[in-house]
Amino acid sequence: MTRRNKPLSLDVFGRRKANGRKIVVLTAYDVPTASIAADGGVDAILVGDSLGMVVLGYDNTLPVTMDEMAHHCAAVVRAGPRVPVIADLPYGSFHVSVAETVRQVIRLVKTTGVNAVKLEGGSVRKDMISALLAAEVPVMGHLGLTPQSINRLGGFKVQGKGSDAAARLEEEAHFLAEAGCFALVLECVPEALATRITARLPIPTIGIGAGGGCDGQVLVFHDLLGLYEGVKPRFVKRYADLGTAAREAVGRYAEEVRSGVFPGPEHVFRDSLDAAPGAASDQDQGKKPQDGYLADVEDAGGAED
Ligand code: KIV
Repeated sequence: MTRRNKPLSLDVFGRRKANGRKIVVLTAYDVPTASIAADGGVDAILVGDSLGMVVLGYDNTLPVTMDEMAHHCAAVVRAGPRVPVIADLPYGSFHVSVAETVRQVIRLVKTTGVNAVKLEGGSVRKDMISALLAAEVPVMGHLGLTPQSINRLGGFKVQGKGSDAAARLEEEAHFLAEAGCFALVLECVPEALATRITARLPIPTIGIGAGGGCDGQVLVFHDLLGLYEGVKPRFVKRYADLGTAAREAVGRYAEEVRSGVFPGPEHVFRDSLDAAPGAASDQDQGKKPQDGYLADVEDAGGAED
């Protein structure tokens, strides 16, 4: 009988809101980042359109396409992270028409296996959100600094400052909860506003630059680990500096290749025919190649050239 994986549930979001335990979300874009996120114990993975900036080298998230998102979402799901995977809908994929949005998202779900989608904006997305829910796709909202709106917002700026803007943002948050979103990302809003919205909203808030009063937090993988060279917003906490560690490692590799230290005797295959007089081949020694992606390579035996 074929063994089937248990479907992954988004219930963790509601459960955590109810019992007051914080929800931990991290972005991921491929197999290594998804495996690290899952092994680190996150509750959910977001394949953010931050992909465009931290992986693909765009200046902002606007150029990211649905094909690029699908390519990376599929890799994240293939990692088998055993936590829900939420796909960010890229700019343009939910702006044209309801039919177009639903068609694109159904294709994304079918071809990648993601469990939910996130889209930026409030009541203006009303029809798209209800159509996606009717198509059985859970939706996460995103308010505050919505990076796909940078041209309208005039840059990456804190949102919801001042009583009018704060009231509008809170109204939109309630709209998204009533529309059926299972959670809401609040990005770059004053802490007091995010805390107030969190206390009044029936769905969990996931903050980024919105303070500790939210029900959970989300960070971008490359920001958390010091792998992104671009701007480091104030709300980012770097838990490691892997960029520096990786550069040092590559530097050592380059030096060892140039000095002849690498590859060493433990990294090469030998044949009794071309072994130096007196030296035994790997096979003679009963050695196995060491770890790494060629660890299973068997010596084919015989000369290759
Ligand atoms: O694209 C992204 O990574 C995001 C998070 C920062 C919320 O939208």
